[in-house]
Amino acid sequence: MTTRITVTVNGEEHTAEVEPRTLLVHFLRDQLGLTGTHWGCDTSNCGVCTVTLDGTPVKSCTVLAVMAHNHSVGTVEGLERDGKLDPVQQGFVECHGLQCGFCTPGMMLTARWLLDNNPDPSETEIREAISGQSCRCTGYENIVRSVQWAARQEVTR
Ligand code: FES
Ligand code: FES
Repeated sequence: MTTRITVTVNGEEHTAEVEPRTLLVHFLRDQLGLTGTHWGCDTSNCGVCTVTLDGTPVKSCTVLAVMAHNHSVGTVEGLERDGKLDPVQQGFVECHGLQCGFCTPGMMLTARWLLDNNPDPSETEIREAISGQSCRCTGYENIVRSVQWAARQEVTR
C-alpha cells in the first residue's frame, strides 16, 4: 500500500507515492535523488540527516515522509542560489569548517536557520544551535568560526 504525497522541496513541488513507513530522509535521498541529506544513525542521535521543515531544522530520520505532505522542506541543495554559494557555505570554505563532510549539510542548514533568526549569535548560541548534531572530525571549533564568518558577511552586507 502506498500513499500519494505532495511536498515542496527547495521551492519545487514534488508529488510521489510513498509507503506509510517511509522516512523523510529516504524519500529525499532515494525517491528525489537529493543525496546531500545524509543518513547516519537512524536513531535520532547524529543529526547528519538534518533538513528544514517549514523553516525549522528537523532530523529527517525522525519524520515520516507522509508528515511532510503539503509542507516545505529545505535541503542543502537549496542553499546555493543562482550559482552563488550561501554565505554559510562560503564560511565553511573560508574557515575549513569541514573535513570528511558527512555532518556538513546538516550543520549548514542549522547555521542558515540560526542566522535567519539571530543574525549576530554569540559563540554559545552557535554551539547550542548545533548541539543536536555530531561531528567526528573537526572538534567543532572551525564549524563555529564558519558560522561567525557568515554572520559577519551578512551583518556588513
Ligand atoms: S540519521 Fe542520525 S539523527 Fe538522523
Ligand atoms: S566533518 Fe566529518 S563528521 Fe563533521
